[in-house]
This record gives sequence, structure tokens and C-alpha cells, in this order.
Amino acid sequence: MSQIAEQFDTPCYVYSRATLVEHYTRLAEAFAPLDPLLCYSIKSCSNISICKTLAECGAGMDLVSGGELHRAKLAGVDPAQCVYAGVGKSDAEIRQSLEAGVGWFNIESEAEFENVSAIAKSMNLICKAALRVNPDVDPKTHRYTTTGKKETKFGVDIERAKSVFEQYGNDEHCILCGIHVHLGSPIYSAEPYVTSLRKILILIDELDVRGIKINMLDLGGGFGADYESDQTPLASEYAKEIVPLLQDHASKGMKIILEPGRTITANAGILLLKVLYIKTSGEKTFVTCDGGMNVMMRPSHYGAFHFIWPCSVKDEHVPQRRAKEMDLPDLIMVDVVGPICETGDFLAIDRLMPPVSRGDLIALFGAGAYGMSMSNRYNSMPLPAEVLVDQTSSKLIRRRETYDDLTSHELNL
Ligand code: LLP
Repeated sequence: MSQIAEQFDTPCYVYSRATLVEHYTRLAEAFAPLDPLLCYSIKSCSNISICKTLAECGAGMDLVSGGELHRAKLAGVDPAQCVYAGVGKSDAEIRQSLEAGVGWFNIESEAEFENVSAIAKSMNLICKAALRVNPDVDPKTHRYTTTGKKETKFGVDIERAKSVFEQYGNDEHCILCGIHVHLGSPIYSAEPYVTSLRKILILIDELDVRGIKINMLDLGGGFGADYESDQTPLASEYAKEIVPLLQDHASKGMKIILEPGRTITANAGILLLKVLYIKTSGEKTFVTCDGGMNVMMRPSHYGAFHFIWPCSVKDEHVPQRRAKEMDLPDLIMVDVVGPICETGDFLAIDRLMPPVSRGDLIALFGAGAYGMSMSNRYNSMPLPAEVLVDQTSSKLIRRRETYDDLTSHELNL
């Protein structure tokens, strides 16, 4: 890590190609009996080289914006292998997606369906769509990332879904032939998937009776990641519960899609930071690093836990597991904070860590998902570098921004 820090400076995101591929492969193998299309959720980690790595494994992409479509194209992904699942699709984005030939539009509302259909008609094109159904199932995760409950802004209530299919099922420009569900994320058991699938399968049968055939089912993403060791079921454990419910439909030709993000990327990346200062204030010891909520928003935004540890430690401090409480000798209690002018700028509060000194490198784990992709330039901090490690080589996949990058879009009137 010190070599990477020397070469690329800090803060810096460091990803492992092998881990990305391994996580993708585990999921693909676990769900292989359904022959699914895995549409990688670009929002979790959007760098083109990461998208390209996963596309080379056979992934399609889950897109939520024109910007993500642009990235998918640059990564060489076939748009026909993509779902476009934006929550507020603009007319321009719909046109771009139609032109590109995205595989499916995941539709959020009746009004959006009408708009997509009208735009497709005006372009003399035909597209396929899935209705995003809100099954009203609690994924038991943070309320900010819960999407499958009725009171959230996502999808169409399951009670209303049938009438939407009846009303729009015969549209000539937007062929409504699929169902999309995404419950939220991260989801640490198969149970919410099973509960919602049971509801969806009843809906599919009821539609079938009315002559409406569903030939695509997109289960969304949300599979967990080990922020602490062994926190998440294995891909095979999710699959064990989900696959049997869908095998019959899949064998009769229903296309099954998954939209994994975090489970592939979270532990394929760390955030490398440097300790700038250590100070005590009252009862507290603060370890101030060169990146905080600007480069990693999850702790301050969701209260999320990320394991943080110095890169170089004495033998007695080599961690055997990533856990909230580490039972090792001579740890000190610290707040790990960033350089941003906000009290809410923290990476960890009251955390036991080995003692560190100014200039030490520390690693924040589980940073590959929703780390760089949620980074921002608050306090005029340039975005960090991203590096992809492939066996023994470390390649820069996004250079650190410069001060000129910060201001290059502004007009100095
Ligand atoms: N599909 C849809 C429709 C989604 O909304 C999401 C995530 C995914 C797939 C991918 O979910 P994943 O497999 O990565 O869990 N910023 C938050 C997470 C927000 C997730 C938004 N939607 C965080 O840092 O935890």
C-alpha cells in the first residue's frame, strides 16, 4: 500500500480485479440454474474500467441515468443487455436509451409509461418494458435505502399493478412484458426476497389467467456485503431460497435478471487515507485524515460501519477479522475524522484502533461500493484517484483531480 500511496498519493481508491471477478462469478454460479442476466448496478462503482471488467465477465448493466448509459457504452457493453431503471427519466434520457436500444425500460408509474410509449412512437421505435412493482415488503435495512415498502417513492403498488398491465398491456410501441422489483439494500437474508417473490408469482399467475404473459422478471439487487466478517449470506445461500421459486418459470423461457452492485464491488475496494494530525480534545482523541465525508459519505449519511485499520501494524495488531469491536491489546479509542468543515464529517466514532502517528496510512474497508460513486467536491476538495490492482500491477483508472478540474466548468466573469 505504501508503494501505491507513493505513486498515486492519497486519498485513493484501490480496487482488486481478482475480487471483482470472484464476486461476480460466485453470484453467476449460484444463480446459474436460472440462466440469469446479471445487470451490474453501475451506481455502486461507476468507473469505466470497473464496468469493463464486469462486462468482460458477461455482465449487462443496470442504468439509472443517461450518464450511466454513456459509461456503459464507453465500457463496450451491449445496450440490449441493459435495464434502464431511472426513477425520474427525462425525455432526453428516454430518447438516448431508445436510440441506443436498451433491453428493457423499468417503468416507475403510469405517467412514465405513457411518456416512454409516446416518445418511442414519435421515433417510430418499439421497446420492451417491465413494470416496477412495489410489493410492500420490509427489507429490514436503513430507511434511506428501503425501496420496497409502500410509503417509498418507488414503483407501483402491487394492488394496482394488475390494472396497469390491463390498461397498457397492448401498447404497440412500449411492450409491457416484464416485472421489476427491488426491495432496498443491503439485505442480509433471503427472506425478504422470498416473501416478495411469492407475492409477485401470484401476480404473474393472475395476469396469465387474463391473457397477459410476463416473460421477464427482474429481481433487482440488494445482496449484502461483509462490512464485518461473515455478516452476509453467501451467494449460494440466497440462491438456495430464490432459485427453486423461479426454476419452473425460467425453464419455460422467462428471462430472469438480477441487478447486483454492492455484493460485487464493496469488498473489492478499499479507501487509502493518510493520517494528517492526531489531537485530544476533552475525553476524545481525533485522528484527522486527508479524506472524510467528501470521499466516503456512508458513515455520516447512513451511520454506516466501515472497518478502518492502519496499513502497517505490529504483529499483535494484525486483525484476524473485521469487527466493530476488536479484542486486541493496547488499542486506543478514537474518532476518525476528515478535513471537511462539518461536525458530521466522520468516518468512525469511538473506534478502538492501534495507535497511529502523523503520516501513517490507514485503510477503510468495504469501500468499493457507494464510495467513489458518492464522492463529492465539497470544500473544493478535488476527487481522489482510483487504482485497479491486477495481480502484480497497479493501474491508474482515474487520475486525481486538479484544482483546474475543480474550476474548469465555471465562467470567471
Ligand atoms: N437496482 C436498483 C433498482 C437499485 O435502486 C439499486 C440500488 C440496485 C439495483 C443495486 O443495489 P445493490 O446491489 O448495490 O445493493 N448509497 C447506498 C445504497 C443505495 C442503493 C441504491 N439503489 C449505500 O451506500 O448503502
